[in-house]
Amino acid sequence: MSTYSRIASLKTHDAFTARLLELGLDLPCDADVASGPDSPLADRFDVDGLTVGNRFCILPMEGWDGTTDGKPTDLTHRRWKNFGISGAKWMWGGEAVAVRHDGRANPNQLLINENNLSSIADLRQTLLDAHAERFDSTDDLLVGLQLTHSGRFARPNRKDQPEPRAAQRNPALDRRLGIKDDSGLITDDELSTLVDDFIRASVMAEKIGFQFVDVKHCHGYLGHELLSGVDRSGKYGGSFENRTRFLRDIVQGIRSATRNMRIGVRVSVFDFLPYVPGDDRIGVPDADGDPRLAFGGDENGLGIDLSQPGQFMELLQSLGIEMVCTTCGSPYYNPHIQRPAYFPPSDGYQPPEDPLVGVTRQIQATAALKRMHPSMTLVGSGYTYLQDWLPGVAQAVVRQGMVDSVGLGRMVLSYPELPDDVLTGQAWQRKKVCRTFSDCTTAPRNGMVSGCYPLDRFYKDRPERDQLKQIKQASAES
Ligand SMILES: Cc1cc2nc3c(=O)[nH]c(=O)nc-3n(C[C@H](O)[C@H](O)[C@H](O)COP(=O)(O)O)c2cc1C
Ligand code: SF4
Repeated sequence: MSTYSRIASLKTHDAFTARLLELGLDLPCDADVASGPDSPLADRFDVDGLTVGNRFCILPMEGWDGTTDGKPTDLTHRRWKNFGISGAKWMWGGEAVAVRHDGRANPNQLLINENNLSSIADLRQTLLDAHAERFDSTDDLLVGLQLTHSGRFARPNRKDQPEPRAAQRNPALDRRLGIKDDSGLITDDELSTLVDDFIRASVMAEKIGFQFVDVKHCHGYLGHELLSGVDRSGKYGGSFENRTRFLRDIVQGIRSATRNMRIGVRVSVFDFLPYVPGDDRIGVPDADGDPRLAFGGDENGLGIDLSQPGQFMELLQSLGIEMVCTTCGSPYYNPHIQRPAYFPPSDGYQPPEDPLVGVTRQIQATAALKRMHPSMTLVGSGYTYLQDWLPGVAQAVVRQGMVDSVGLGRMVLSYPELPDDVLTGQAWQRKKVCRTFSDCTTAPRNGMVSGCYPLDRFYKDRPERDQLKQIKQASAES
């Protein structure tokens, strides 16, 4: 169990800001959160020629709950419906959708192809209908689809069987996945074919009404790993130009093959070394970790150096990409920086820092990139751990121009109506606030569908909840 102060125990704004001060963190938080059409979080804005109705964005979240051929199920529809009723006006991609079978992160990940297209179109429609029913109009709603290949973390056929297509060797991560030779590496020819798969997927996404595609470059998956592919030889590795060739080729292809498909990029703007449980299960950097392979990391792999991510932003700008969603690290090898939590997933390690440090790190890195590239539109991530103080921080960072839109991940699994409650000044539903129990991560790590088992009545009543309890108990005792 973590020893840091729980957010729920910080009952007043003064107590919260005092804790930030104690930790030496520079994080603004407004004491009063405004509601109504003139509030900072209700401010409309334009991006890439489209209007977005407010400053909340729903981050992509998959549920490990598609069919084995990659179609959404009722559980997937329920999640997207909740995204629709949230009141947020930007949907960053819904969830990771593989562009081909071997790139699926699990055998239940959605897969975009001709066979599945009408089902994925229905999924989008579920979200739109739910939004329209509650808020009358979808005119100012921006909905994209996240396209992915899971690369090193692909498990397309069995949940317990990694079938990696990694960008390069990485001793610390190879060990975890049982990669012993170069056969787990994706070849240049495979990458060229994959570029075509991304383009084909974008054409399909445009056909069924998505307004943009996210060419995913985060969380250790293929696009992200290529960015750090300094040891890779050939045309997709080594120099910055080569490491970004995959993205450039996809973008060029989408521009010529679609009518007007807009493109966004979700990118891990910094990375750290992989972590492992140390004494008392507290996370420590893996001794085999190599700082050179942490894109946006400093020379020790434990801090941030935004010079390359800044260069990457310049590249995006030169490619005419305005929409960027910032995130960091990977849920597989350094979850404490990526999704700060009080209670880690059962297969993880205890947080090596107060999770507020992780939240602030992501917010400040995003703000630094926004200062460097003010004309780009940035969506931030990692706010959920703020819990009751999320609205105050969200308003402050938007008001101060540190970010354009506040992305919400785990919080909408437990409290889907949060954006609407904040925007309309409804009572704060404390019982629904995500307390970062991590069951939504622990469940899929153990082969179950993801969901908020502790707080969402629907998942509370599912049989997996008992199984989860046993797994967590066993892990606490080990
Ligand atoms: C259950 C779950 C599923 C996720 N699935 C995706 C995904 O499909 N694509 C993605 O880019 N990020 C995914 N994420 C990461 C979130 O989008 C987000 O970056 C992360 O949860 C941190 O934001 P938060 O603090 O608001 O939760 C997922 C996170 C969770 C908890
Ligand atoms: S299971 Fe629920 S409370 Fe726990 S982290 Fe996920 S959304 Fe939050």
